[in-house]
Amino acid sequence: MTYARIAGTGSHLPERVLTNAELETLVDTSDEWIAERTGIRQRHIAAPGETTADLAEQAARKAMAAAGVEAAEIDLIVLGTTTPDLIFPSTACLVQARLGANGCAAFDVNAACSGFLYALSVANQFVRGGVARCALVIGAETLSRMLDWSDRSTCVLFGDGAGAVVLKPDAETGILSTHLHADGAYRHLLYNPVGVSAGFRDEKNHGVRVMMTGNDVFKVAVKTLDAVVEETLAANGLPKSAIDWLIPHQANLRIIAATARRLEMPMERVVVTVDRHGNTSAASVPLALDEAVRSGRVRRGDMLLLEAFGGGFTWGSALLRF
Ligand code: ACO
Repeated sequence: MTYARIAGTGSHLPERVLTNAELETLVDTSDEWIAERTGIRQRHIAAPGETTADLAEQAARKAMAAAGVEAAEIDLIVLGTTTPDLIFPSTACLVQARLGANGCAAFDVNAACSGFLYALSVANQFVRGGVARCALVIGAETLSRMLDWSDRSTCVLFGDGAGAVVLKPDAETGILSTHLHADGAYRHLLYNPVGVSAGFRDEKNHGVRVMMTGNDVFKVAVKTLDAVVEETLAANGLPKSAIDWLIPHQANLRIIAATARRLEMPMERVVVTVDRHGNTSAASVPLALDEAVRSGRVRRGDMLLLEAFGGGFTWGSALLRF
């Protein structure tokens, strides 16, 4: 049996930090409301001209250095994003050229906040099947570019950033299973109303912006994440106690706590970055993973459960021995 094992992790955040106190000057909100309802205290925002590919490149370089791999060894790049630099080429192709990994397969996956889990699952199949021997998997976003900064119900939630991992074949252990789901019937609860084929302005003449019915999204997120963690444990015949670390999508501390309760895990075993990063969509899980690895909390051999939920709706999980 060949597994795909994470050989190295990396992440990158833009320099600029936007605090809740600053948001109080933009919209009718308060630090207290944001912190209580979401757990967010600050987020990072890309500088003018700084793009998703810029963040992705930095995260990728750190993951490659941690894994000890050169660009010439990479034979697959899969990048999860819902905020690509351009309509085409894909952000994966832009990053490939900067790294000098030219020639290998490179493509983007759009699954909103589940983008990294989808990208990881695709790359896992390539590595397990023997098609790729060194895969770079990235989640990178500049959500700040698609926010309506006068809409308090969405602009306080999101941030920018990127995370990456290098996957290599391993005979012993690595990713044990991935579980992906989607239900397009929920598209009206969380979406961006414009695009190439639908037109760059909607009927109200609005451009890009996140449209979200927050409390309905919240309820479905808690329910589907409960189901996917149960599915993951059942598929591997493992009890809840087998999980060393939960590395969840960082949208809302209350959603994270609900999943932890379901798993009967103390919050000390849950990696939380939402307080400092906000919701960085496809970047949130690899950012949290990299932080936990670099801080020495997650160690080689630990059993990790990764999960995410986002627009589509999409959701998914990955169980792996690190
Ligand atoms: N500051 C102050 N008040 C606010 C703010 C704000 N920033 N935003 C909304 N409110 C008000 C509302 O207007 C409402 O006021 P009302 O009662 O007078 O009508 C009140 O607060 C409650 O609003 P709710 O939307 O019911 O608040 P809720 O407790 O549900 O929290 C939140 C909102 C934080 C958005 C929550 O629902 C949530 O986190 N939802 C899930 C988000 C998510 O997981 N998204 C998936 C990933 S995103 C992606 O894929 C791109």
